[in-house]
Amino acid sequence: MIKYKTKEQIKTIAEGGKILSKIMDLVIEKVKPGITTGELNDYAEKLIEAAGAEGSFKNYEAAWAESVYPAALCVSVNDEVVHGIPTFDRKLEAGDIVGLDCGLKYKGLFTDMARTVAVGKISPAAKKLMSVTQEALGAGIKKVKPGNKLSDIGKAIQSVVEKNGFTVVRQLCGHGVGFAAHEDPQVPNYWPAYDTRDLTLEVGMVIAIEPMVNAGGWEVDTLDDGWTIVTADESLSAHFEHTVAVTDDGFKILTK
Ligand code: MF3
Ligand code: CO
Repeated sequence: MIKYKTKEQIKTIAEGGKILSKIMDLVIEKVKPGITTGELNDYAEKLIEAAGAEGSFKNYEAAWAESVYPAALCVSVNDEVVHGIPTFDRKLEAGDIVGLDCGLKYKGLFTDMARTVAVGKISPAAKKLMSVTQEALGAGIKKVKPGNKLSDIGKAIQSVVEKNGFTVVRQLCGHGVGFAAHEDPQVPNYWPAYDTRDLTLEVGMVIAIEPMVNAGGWEVDTLDDGWTIVTADESLSAHFEHTVAVTDDGFKILTK
């Protein structure tokens, strides 16, 4: 069931989104060779608490995992697509790309965003993967307006990605967000998507759009930790995400 948000609620979600985006900027400043993914999460958790917010991923229970997600920040390195678990023995190295994904609960309302950044100097191929993924997110967001459909978003993302020789992950999607970390509808990054009805976008919907893009094939596996999603062929993967509201005249990005 789709839960619509009032203009007031969207304002509050945008307040939380602004805080989240600032926290993301600060965490990204710490990304350097030698820092551990655990330290990045600790820093994010401190900033979240200082902002009077809560990390919505921490202790998240998912139907597919046996254990709760143990951190506020997902840190996914190189062939890790999403949901990488931060630890104090995983040091970042020059040449890595690292996906940072964080969700907040602020004044009772939820936001979600992700970015992928370089650690030191990276290869031109990795740079291209990141810029194409960000461009694909932008193309998807531009399709958000009342009367357009979920398929418009998915097709726009997929077209940017495939035009550049990369692939869109299919097992994971974007989602509604706002009253919970994950709500209806699912927001696929490709189309047609299995089992997904082509919903029409309406004013008051708030969705997280989050293309996950692989340099190789789109297939992914889950590691034994029950959470970390990796590319099946060990190719690099990038992830960008914004929380976006459907407004009278189109869209508003709430996480910036
Ligand atoms: N942005 C990701 C998603 O929406 C992160 C979820 S991590 C979890 O799937 F812990 F909340 F599952
Ligand atoms: Co999300």
